Amino acid sequence: MPAKTAVVLGAQWGDEGKGKIVDVLADRFSIVARYAGGHNAGHTVIIGGKKFVLQLVPCGVLRPDCRAVIGNGVVLDPMAFLQEVERLREVGVDVSGKLFVSNRAHVILPYHRMIELAAENAPGRMKIGTTSRGIGPAYEDKMKRSGLRVVDMLNTALLRTHIQNACHEKNTIARALFGTDPLDANKMYEEYARVAERLAPYIADTALLLNQALRAGESIMFEGAQGTLLDIDHGTYPYVTSSSATAGGATIGTGVGPTAIGTVIGVTKAYVTRVGEGPFPTEIHDTTGDLLRARGQEYGAVTGRPRRCGWIDLPMLRYSNQINGTKWLVVTKLDVLDGLDSIPVCTGYKVDGKLTDTVPADVRGLESIEPIYKNLQGWQQPTEGITEYAKLPAAAKEYLKYLESESGARIGMISTGPDRDQTILLPEFATALAAISATS
Ligand code: GDP
Ligand code: IMO
Ligand code: MG
Repeated sequence: MPAKTAVVLGAQWGDEGKGKIVDVLADRFSIVARYAGGHNAGHTVIIGGKKFVLQLVPCGVLRPDCRAVIGNGVVLDPMAFLQEVERLREVGVDVSGKLFVSNRAHVILPYHRMIELAAENAPGRMKIGTTSRGIGPAYEDKMKRSGLRVVDMLNTALLRTHIQNACHEKNTIARALFGTDPLDANKMYEEYARVAERLAPYIADTALLLNQALRAGESIMFEGAQGTLLDIDHGTYPYVTSSSATAGGATIGTGVGPTAIGTVIGVTKAYVTRVGEGPFPTEIHDTTGDLLRARGQEYGAVTGRPRRCGWIDLPMLRYSNQINGTKWLVVTKLDVLDGLDSIPVCTGYKVDGKLTDTVPADVRGLESIEPIYKNLQGWQQPTEGITEYAKLPAAAKEYLKYLESESGARIGMISTGPDRDQTILLPEFATALAAISATS
């Protein structure tokens, strides 16, 4: 019998609609756990027309019977976390007693943002187009073994020394390299010591909590952030984020073993978007791109930046499914393609004049991809809000069938609008879910 867990992750460059899908599925799971990233994520959930944007708090928190865990693989900005909890409380979502933050998660401090902003804007430096949340520098400190973990915030002597030493180092670097004004270590210590007290009730050994839950027969959904092509190892490096967004990240980022992963669900848009810099082979540079952006409301949930839009890229989707061991695909935003005469689908690449469908590792290779397109027939009837597969227009079904046959994974769900209810659940997927998500 498979473990009662599922990883839900982004198959592309983020913003695939993971938030909506996690919310739709969360009522079948006892716990939803985030395993990577930080408040660079923006997960939108719409329930009966009411909009929630979650950044650090897992979307499962919106389901009354679901507990939520922020795993050790996440980098936590304590201010952003407490503000998000407050915003949720203001709209009637009480997280007390059901939201847990890993004691081993690393903390984002103001000098991480300072270094990132200075580096991103420094003349001559390669710009990644980050979300400016201090994510990269916080992971740098983690890997350098000089980070501050959530548990360390509770030790005031350690907190003070850490902030003093780190400020000395970061201020010196930022002044020397970027001419940045220094941050005040004493003020920072006092502020974070107060914040630690407010954070304390949420802090737990979440790896223990999750493993105990599994032993007790409870089910867990791992909520991915960002997307496969933004993964630090498998993404379009260096235009990536600094964490493991792929399925493997779910075990490292929460402390459950690989044998505890029941299934992997990849979320893909019916087209593709990307925010920030970096290669994007199927990007649309004409007015159709603007049309998709307008219809799909493709503006970043965190930074408000317009998202770059492109056609579905099958070699990239196959790559993503391979890296993640994706069993099930969820196709979102099908409705955005309504009314197009034909829909180009990228079936392969030409790199340096040679046909290939392997995703190049190097930026030069990625940038020189010439996509090969096949035109599929569009559909003129609206799909928005359709909840039964049989009611989809024939050409939309053909589009989905083609995606499935070329992607290496089964389509289990289709999203036809942003609302929780605008979803098609296919019977085979429902059966598979019942096996992994039932609580014994
Ligand atoms: P995430 O980061 O993967 O959770 O995705 P975001 O929330 O950043 O971006 C997805 C956007 O698309 C949000 O505004 C969602 O409300 C919206 N959305 C999700 N699914 C659908 C869908 O099927 N159709 C349409 N039109 N919008 C959708
Ligand atoms: P969700 O979870 C889309 C992108 C940024 C930038 C790169 C590095 O909502 O899908 P970072 O701040 O992480 O160092 O920026 O990654 N990026 C995202 N793009 N959705 C996200 O999250 C993203 N999180 C980071 O735009 O290109
Ligand atoms: Mg998002």
